Amino acid sequence: MQKDFRNAVQFSHLLLKENIEVGDLVIDATAGNGHDTKYLAELVGVDGKVFAFDIQEKAIAKTKELLEMNDLADRAELILDSHAEINQYLSQKISAVIFNLGYLPGGNKEIITKSESTIAALKQSIELLKKNGVVILVIYSGHSGGEEEKKVLLDFASALDYKKFNVLNYEFLNQPGPPPQVLAIKKRI
Ligand SMILES: C[S@@+](CC[C@H](N)C(=O)[O-])C[C@H]1O[C@@H](n2cnc3c(N)ncnc32)[C@H](O)[C@@H]1O
Repeated sequence: MQKDFRNAVQFSHLLLKENIEVGDLVIDATAGNGHDTKYLAELVGVDGKVFAFDIQEKAIAKTKELLEMNDLADRAELILDSHAEINQYLSQKISAVIFNLGYLPGGNKEIITKSESTIAALKQSIELLKKNGVVILVIYSGHSGGEEEKKVLLDFASALDYKKFNVLNYEFLNQPGPPPQVLAIKKRI
């Protein structure tokens, strides 16, 4: 039996695993150190593709290195640009998008995701989703600006038409500090 409930990142990976098939096209909207991109690359297999965005050269370099170390580099396209520009890079239907918000662990804590670009990317993402596709956001609210970004995202997701989208908020209620939470949106039609 599992000891504790899955933490936010573990839960986000479970949702990705349940919703991605070999050969799928998927997006990592915040490549960072590349852990999510690597996980996605494993899930989509040799015939799939991960489009991974980050605005920091350091993050793209880290992600490239991790993929190369694991012989997965040919399954990913690494894009040094904001996720708010997703529509410039792809128009194909996708099965999953992951956002891991906040700052790059081990990097500059001043460079954070911002609600304006995150919401722009989220709107483009849900348009690109195929039926039963998912957008998953791991949200951190402990840093400056995090609480505002969280509110904007929860307000937007709560207002989505339930006939078109399933929306889930996975949140620990009794932990010290604001623990990360997972917002997941599934396209129903
Ligand atoms: C928490 S980290 C991501 C962690 C990553 N998913 C991993 O598995 O290692 C957040 C990342 O978002 C990036 N970021 C911030 N604003 C962005 C934007 N507008 N578009 C794309 N990436 C952005 C940061 O540079 C940072 O690397």
